[in-house]
Amino acid sequence: MSMVNDEKIPNNVDLAQDKRLQRALEQWQPDFLSWWREMGPEGFQEREVYLRTAISVTTEGWAHYDYVRMPDYRWGIFLADQVPGRTIGFGDLLGQPVWQDVPGEHRGTLRRLIVTQGDTEPASVEQQRALGHCCPSLYDLRNLFQVNVEEGRHLWAMVYLLHRFFGRDGREDAEELLARRSGNPDRPRILGAFNEPIDDWLSFYMFTMFTDRDGKYQLLALAESGFDPLSRTTRFMLTEEAHHMFVGETGIGRVVQRSAELAKLSKNGNPREQGGIDLETVQKYLNLWYSLSLDLFGSEISTNAASFFGAGLKGRAKEEKFEEHVCREGAVVMEIPEQGRLVRREVPLRSAMNEVLRDGYVEDCQRGVDRWNKILAESGLSFRLRLPSRRFHRQQGVFSGLRFDPDGRQISTEEWAKRQDDWLPSASDRSYVKSLQPRAIHERGKMANWIAAPAKGIDGQPVDFEYVRLD
Ligand SMILES: [Fe+2]
Ligand SMILES: [Fe+2]
Repeated sequence: MSMVNDEKIPNNVDLAQDKRLQRALEQWQPDFLSWWREMGPEGFQEREVYLRTAISVTTEGWAHYDYVRMPDYRWGIFLADQVPGRTIGFGDLLGQPVWQDVPGEHRGTLRRLIVTQGDTEPASVEQQRALGHCCPSLYDLRNLFQVNVEEGRHLWAMVYLLHRFFGRDGREDAEELLARRSGNPDRPRILGAFNEPIDDWLSFYMFTMFTDRDGKYQLLALAESGFDPLSRTTRFMLTEEAHHMFVGETGIGRVVQRSAELAKLSKNGNPREQGGIDLETVQKYLNLWYSLSLDLFGSEISTNAASFFGAGLKGRAKEEKFEEHVCREGAVVMEIPEQGRLVRREVPLRSAMNEVLRDGYVEDCQRGVDRWNKILAESGLSFRLRLPSRRFHRQQGVFSGLRFDPDGRQISTEEWAKRQDDWLPSASDRSYVKSLQPRAIHERGKMANWIAAPAKGIDGQPVDFEYVRLD
């Protein structure tokens, strides 16, 4: 069992044995903390929050709950236990022992993969920093902060790899991860969705449902990596990530449930008349965050994806579920645009790896949508939520630059301009959602009018537990 020790930087990687690395990370630690104080949750740094902290990486030990002030959270470096005799599970090097160090020929590529993943972690903390001021309940406020501190820890996970394996370049990358700022035009975060504002809770739930779920699939693909330290660190991150998606899926579920209740109370069946969120608006937010998150998987046809797979750097999610792991043969049939028209094309399997990963993601999202629709069906409403076509509103990949409606039908730029407010949140939808709740709800057990209470509390505590101590 790998216990997490009690050092200045909690870790289960024997950091004390490597004095140079320990010193380098101890130098980065105050920079991280000043980034956290500047860009982390605004206004609640001195409050005690009922948080989960990892104290070991075993199933029993990693979730320890107690009151913590966020700047005192024990951010550390936790790797899942090494699997003895682990071999590379896919690509040209199938069956060869995994690497404990970075192979020289893959140094640049691995560094880029780690920096790109690492950049998303602080980005989301920055995007969500003002949400505490308009939280719908203490329960939700605590969940927001849990997600935030764990994204901070995921940054530590990537920074450990950069410092440990990439020398001076890695140390510079680690500084850069604290220097970019979400949404800043001069030094933005690397990926599009991580520069979008998240200034209301409907967006937050959509983000944790759809964008954190992209994270899950990226981590699953990296967990297959032949670079064993990357595999071990992402495997442990996945255990934390599950809670983030829980927050998103149940958050939307509670909005949907409340909207159904309010629709019944209103004369015209419109929850807006009762101070709730109408399902059409929920659908627009879904369309936005789902399409932004689809972009994060990269292009449908990608030579990079093919070479990552061939080299054993990035596999498919749950590679062992596939029958064949070399994938030199085989193709995926896709409908792709050529000269402005959609045509069916066979794409070599390795070049289609982004799309294969996206397939698993789409299925996973659909399961969540089905659960929301079950709530609607049980409420006796006929409205159903749905995932738009994966061609809709894309800014990356083969569909970018063209216009499609949510059914995937190609439309003209003029029609798009006319219809986009029917499909994506308009300025007035956004200001309506923001106007619903002029102040944060801080009373124990109380919920904002537009959202239902959760089915149960966190860590077996009641829903009206004091999840954040505000006085
Ligand atoms: Fe994360
Ligand atoms: Fe996350």
